[in-house]
Amino acid sequence: MSVVALVPAAGRGVRLGGSVPKALVPIRGEPLLVHAVRGLLASGCVHAAVVAAPASDVDVAAGALAAAGVDAQVVPGGPNRTQSVRLALHAAGDPTIVLVHDAARAFTPAEVIKAVVAAVSAGVPAVIPVLPVADTVKRVDPAGVVLNTPDRSELRIVQTPQGFSADVLRRAYDAYPDDTTTDDAGLVERLGVPVATVPGHAYAMKITTPFDLAIAESVLS
Ligand code: CTP
Ligand code: MG
Repeated sequence: MSVVALVPAAGRGVRLGGSVPKALVPIRGEPLLVHAVRGLLASGCVHAAVVAAPASDVDVAAGALAAAGVDAQVVPGGPNRTQSVRLALHAAGDPTIVLVHDAARAFTPAEVIKAVVAAVSAGVPAVIPVLPVADTVKRVDPAGVVLNTPDRSELRIVQTPQGFSADVLRRAYDAYPDDTTTDDAGLVERLGVPVATVPGHAYAMKITTPFDLAIAESVLS
């Protein structure tokens, strides 16, 4: 049973606002991407990683990983996350299980990665790590006026790695070649394949803003 992790890392990081792509932003001296891929491989249940790097910085990303002794294949990413995952999937060979893990979730604990792989290994076709929603959530109209209040107990925040049997993920990406509106599990849902959940973790937060980066520097790394 081979497990390959696809790591979309090709975003610019507009909300972070740095001068280099987000995946190359250093945290405690090493790029976010290096932390993310090292964490996947160190979990002991991921055999290889394929990184979709910013097309302008493929060599820089590959060099940073090599310098850190972190083994990964690096391919140029696309204009959106979906295309980056698609390009990494094409380069991934023929694994049994595929994980898709945001480089931006650089400090995801091994226990989350292991739980996802364990579920797919046990025969679940698709699984995502989730957290309960802490805040009340409102649905609003375009003017910002509240329409209604969804039942929070039914809502979950979705993290990565998302795990799939490889044939299911390939089928989803083939079925919706132009879709960029949802995540990997969202494509799989549309096939009618059930998507299971496992507990996520606060440390698997997505580093999106300068505030998140400060949390990562002080708490997570
Ligand atoms: N991603 C990607 N290719 C893109 C856009 C995003 O591989 N064209 C990746 C990012 O590098 C990140 C993950 O998808 O690891 C989640 O995206 P997000 O956190 O939104 O990162 P960015 O798109 O870089 O950030 P922003 O939206 O603030 O520009
Ligand atoms: Mg983005």
